[in-house]
Amino acid sequence: MMTEREAHLIHKAYEEVKKYEEQVEKDPYRLTFHLMPPVGLLNDPNGLIQYNDVYHVFFQWNPFDTTHGSKFWGHYSSKDLIHWKKESVALAPSEWYEKNGCYSGSAVEWAGKLYLFYTGNVKKENGDRETYQCMAISDDGIHFEKKGPVLELPEGYTAHFRDPKVWKHDDDWYMIVGAQTLDEKGTAVIFQSKDLYHWKEAGRIAGADMNGLNDFGYMWECPDLIHLNGQDLLLVSPQGLEPSGHFYHNVFQSGYFVGKMDYDHVQFQHGPFVELDRGFDFYAPQTFKDASGRTILYGWMGITDDMEPYHPTINHHWVHALTIPRELELRKGKLYQKPLEELKGLRKERLKVNHVNLTENQNIEIQGIKGKALELIVDFLKIEGNKFGISFRNEAVLTYEPEREEIRLQRRNIKTGGHEIRRCKLSDLDKLHVFMDRSSIEIFINDGEEVFTARYFPDSENETIQFFGDHVEMNITKWELKPFTYTGQSI
Ligand code: FRU
Repeated sequence: MMTEREAHLIHKAYEEVKKYEEQVEKDPYRLTFHLMPPVGLLNDPNGLIQYNDVYHVFFQWNPFDTTHGSKFWGHYSSKDLIHWKKESVALAPSEWYEKNGCYSGSAVEWAGKLYLFYTGNVKKENGDRETYQCMAISDDGIHFEKKGPVLELPEGYTAHFRDPKVWKHDDDWYMIVGAQTLDEKGTAVIFQSKDLYHWKEAGRIAGADMNGLNDFGYMWECPDLIHLNGQDLLLVSPQGLEPSGHFYHNVFQSGYFVGKMDYDHVQFQHGPFVELDRGFDFYAPQTFKDASGRTILYGWMGITDDMEPYHPTINHHWVHALTIPRELELRKGKLYQKPLEELKGLRKERLKVNHVNLTENQNIEIQGIKGKALELIVDFLKIEGNKFGISFRNEAVLTYEPEREEIRLQRRNIKTGGHEIRRCKLSDLDKLHVFMDRSSIEIFINDGEEVFTARYFPDSENETIQFFGDHVEMNITKWELKPFTYTGQSI
């Protein structure tokens, strides 16, 4: 049964949606094939699951403002990840143990029911925090009954202890939680359960002086331990890494460690941390395995940096979106991320231009290769000069320099107006697969070897795409993309 306070909060959120819906939808930067908040602020993807043949995507949501606040769990569902249903709020921060936010968490199915695990965030008047790992259960995937805290803060950690991800291994349930040790080092802690209600601490598995990681961030958020192509991977979002070479230039990072999980001793031997995305706006990803066995990742296409308050969409009462879904594959110890097959269902008519040649330092536009919401595949036949690049709507520029073995993305910083760059090493460029939406760009390189994700805010009428370079030959394919369709109520 929903409490009065919960019903009241959901009603207030609904009022907010009604009030601003029209203004939100008028925004030329509103995306067309990405999940966004109906109004207000969205951050992490939560509770990703396929349950009774339906995919559920929950998300951190502040309906009342475009800043971070007491988070709700918003909810979309879909059979194919492109036709969506707007579901009502799954969790509202109504109870004492979550009064300052139903923070991030995950979903599992057990005995036909859907279980959500999330962090109840409590801020006391003196500024101290409390954290509770909570559970809510549903018979239909839509209506949830809160069961309250199932896990209190164990000894040895600060109250920065959150984002439970739950999974089953053999006959036991496991939960991994992002944490901070008392000496303020980021780590990930594992708990074990037989019944999902009673959890026993099993130990830390990484970070904070383990496996040689002694100075690796002051807090780890959103840990996710998965089994993929015969190995175990810990995905995690550490906070507090200093920029180093091409790495860690965003304020917070998201990446993975490949290793081997020993469940008997609760130990995880692992290799180095690798960033998941090389762009500007990617954080707090979560994965799930669907019925077909694919491991699918969604990320938050945003980050809490100092540009956040400058997003132009805030004038229209909304901010941030999720990334497109990516299928994960581990090849020779490296994670590859590919746009999910289902996105092909958005394609309209195809335009293919073969054997496009760039000779001496040319900069060209190609008839029909332009637009705001489209998919582009560039297959390279040769890159013999010292540069190749694409300028997207005069606002973001991707440049590859073979001699430096480097690829980089430049965009305009919305706070300062200056240019900023993210880059990574790349020894060969064979293929680019780009998803442009009205104010976002996701670039998959060499079938997912590297990915650059960014929001960008071009002149909303600008549709130009320019190719530049030196002794390059390529085949280019373009599809305009249909927008997602939505049914159901507003929240
Ligand atoms: C990551 C995060 C999580 C937390 C949530 C709150 O972006 O800070 O650690 O649960 O967002 O919205």
